[in-house]
Amino acid sequence: MDIVFDEITSNVMSELEKTQREFWNVPRTTGILLNMFVKMMNAKSVLEVGTSNGYSGLWLAKALKETGGRLTTIEYYDKRQSIAIENFKKCGVIDVVRPLQGSACEIIEAFDDSEKFDFVFIDANKREYVKYFELVKPHLTQKAMIVADNITSHAEKVQTFVDAVNADDEFQYTIVDLPGGILTAYRN
Ligand SMILES: C[S@@+](CC[C@H](N)C(=O)[O-])C[C@H]1O[C@@H](n2cnc3c(N)ncnc32)[C@H](O)[C@@H]1O
Repeated sequence: MDIVFDEITSNVMSELEKTQREFWNVPRTTGILLNMFVKMMNAKSVLEVGTSNGYSGLWLAKALKETGGRLTTIEYYDKRQSIAIENFKKCGVIDVVRPLQGSACEIIEAFDDSEKFDFVFIDANKREYVKYFELVKPHLTQKAMIVADNITSHAEKVQTFVDAVNADDEFQYTIVDLPGGILTAYRN
């Protein structure tokens, strides 16, 4: 069966799916997978790079409500971040979301050493994916999962990232043939 949300969340999700192109949101299939991955990993601390209006963040946060975890999500534009915060509030997940506004690289670089994530979703500036990967690595728990969107739709821009994951002995990875293409990497 399809995932069942409360009526308000279902309505918000449906409305957001109408403006998916405008806000560069992941397709619903990817949202469902993100939600399942977080629950399967029993993730407690998730980092999202690229909030936009909060669509993928809602899929992550709804799963974190079940695992008892928290989402940190980074967005450069304050207007998009404000829309995302409204959506998180409407869907009753704002209490598990820490929205951060600014340049993703600068924000990750400034994280305290004690900041750890067991699941990371990368979906911001495609040419910076490789930087996000390098910057986030010291902040991963031992068994951590990384998912990145637009691997086939923006293949040339993300190639350095794919090469870096491929060259890293600690991670096993595969590219899943969803719309846009997602890379899933796991360190065990
Ligand atoms: C593809 S959209 C994210 C879509 C979102 N993950 C979803 O599926 O609902 C990418 C977002 O990343 C933001 N972004 C791009 N470069 C960024 C950067 N360097 N730092 C922070 N955010 C950035 C953009 O403003 C945009 O809203």
